[in-house]
Amino acid sequence: MLIPRPRRTESGTGAFAITPSTRIAADAATESVRLYLQQTLRGSTGLPVRDAADGTGAAADVIALRVAEDDTLPAGPAGDRSESFRLVVTADGVEITGGSPAGVFYGVQALLQCLPADVYRKGRVGTGPWTIPAVTVEDAPAFAWRGVMLDVARHFRTKHEVMRVIDQLAAHRLNRLHFHLTEDQGWRIEIRKYPRLTEIGSWRTESQVGAHVPGPDGSLAVAGKDGRPHGGYYTQDDIREIVAYAADRFVTVVPEIETPGHVRAALAAYPELGVSGQPIDVWTEWGIAEDVLNAEDSTVDFFKDVLDEVIALFPSEYIGVGGDECPKVQWENDPRTQERIRELGLEDEEQLQAWIIGQLASHVESHGRRAFGWDEILEGGTLAPSATVVSWRGLTGARTAAKRGHDVISAPDDQVYLDYRQSDLETEPIPVSIVLTVDDVFAFDPVPSDLTDAERAHVIGGQGNMWTEHVDTARKLDYQLFPRVAALAEALWSADVTGPRDVAEFRGRLAEHVARLEAMGIEYRHEAGPFPWEQRPGVPGRPHSREERAAYIDAVTANIAE
Ligand code: ACM
Repeated sequence: MLIPRPRRTESGTGAFAITPSTRIAADAATESVRLYLQQTLRGSTGLPVRDAADGTGAAADVIALRVAEDDTLPAGPAGDRSESFRLVVTADGVEITGGSPAGVFYGVQALLQCLPADVYRKGRVGTGPWTIPAVTVEDAPAFAWRGVMLDVARHFRTKHEVMRVIDQLAAHRLNRLHFHLTEDQGWRIEIRKYPRLTEIGSWRTESQVGAHVPGPDGSLAVAGKDGRPHGGYYTQDDIREIVAYAADRFVTVVPEIETPGHVRAALAAYPELGVSGQPIDVWTEWGIAEDVLNAEDSTVDFFKDVLDEVIALFPSEYIGVGGDECPKVQWENDPRTQERIRELGLEDEEQLQAWIIGQLASHVESHGRRAFGWDEILEGGTLAPSATVVSWRGLTGARTAAKRGHDVISAPDDQVYLDYRQSDLETEPIPVSIVLTVDDVFAFDPVPSDLTDAERAHVIGGQGNMWTEHVDTARKLDYQLFPRVAALAEALWSADVTGPRDVAEFRGRLAEHVARLEAMGIEYRHEAGPFPWEQRPGVPGRPHSREERAAYIDAVTANIAE
């Protein structure tokens, strides 16, 4: 019972058993997949699972991995077969054929799910038998971009915690980690040319506890702070390690450097990037800071330098330039910024934001990469045709971007914001925003309903967004991600190509899947609600109803609605 659900499954007779004589035969293209499978099986089974090329053992009893151009593999998005696979298990052996090494890797993930859940343990707890009932599985994804965004800026996650998330994504056949590296509250990536970004920008003195709450006069206020410093960053070697680890699991790490808002950590390090030029601290509150970049050429050049180092570290085709939630109040009140708007021949602050994003997007493209940003980049005029939009304020941005001919990644907050609370229980640890259940995520459709076929083709996939204002430990991260990420994988891999969505049928598979999550050591949210140690009583919050949220989102996206 696989997750995500495959296109075709046919049971055979008999079973294959992994035994001391089982070997793996890999072609040259699938060498890294062989190593992954060997490491996984050796850890949990304790068996040697040798390389067939070592020349020992019989011809049978082999798990064969190979890449083939094979028109009989099911076709994925736009007819692409690179992630498609066929897994054939008989009593005599296992054969995995993929359209590329990625397809073979997904066949391996299907194979692992056919084994007892203990195969996901890193150490041995039993002696098997490690049997796989005979089966043929043929599969391909519905969407090319199947991702999770991880915010490591609000709360830092160590590199091993990030690699653990990458393992979790790979096991669910997700293939993008959108790495949100910079924020008002912290700068998390070493930039050699500007060392203060991490020396100063990666640490804050304390953090807000809970969400803002209405005070006696109704205005929102911070209820309290924890009085404890927080910080951390990745060296460039750490980044290379994370990128390589992800590549071996066919996960592309897509970096994002936020501009022109959400930059307060950078302003703390280099105040001359700001509108006032005055010293400022790394922010200790959540929300949207008014402090934004100034529009001088020197500031644009600074971020181009940053992007140069980022581009050198990340082979990803896409490089994020941010773009969301940039308040205009400092620009409106600053005579120099007003002069700058006139100098550049622009009309207003919206166009100034578009100009800054445009400068950085062109720079990304001058390196042969593609820029992507949040749906606010649709505001204020022209956007380079190749720029890709992440639609987060519902699907309004997705619809508009696709109609204007931009590629789109859908991450609508009301369907896939993984920081949102998972029930309306008082004990739910995240006290903010709307309820977003496993079933809601399962129902996620990245494609807005009223697009033409040509417009639909611009929707390259979707991602869940894991913001971490209220997620300060790996355990809390597990709780927020799972089991909703399993539902996300289903929505992005299986979508409607495996037949109509059937949440009851999915829940049946999920009930088995949690044994795998447990073997992986993932502290997923149990359906009955948070355990006492997962609850966060007494922390102020401000939950919203779906109606309140819809009214707010409709208002803030009115200027990009077509
Ligand atoms: C976002 O949630 N501000 C992209």
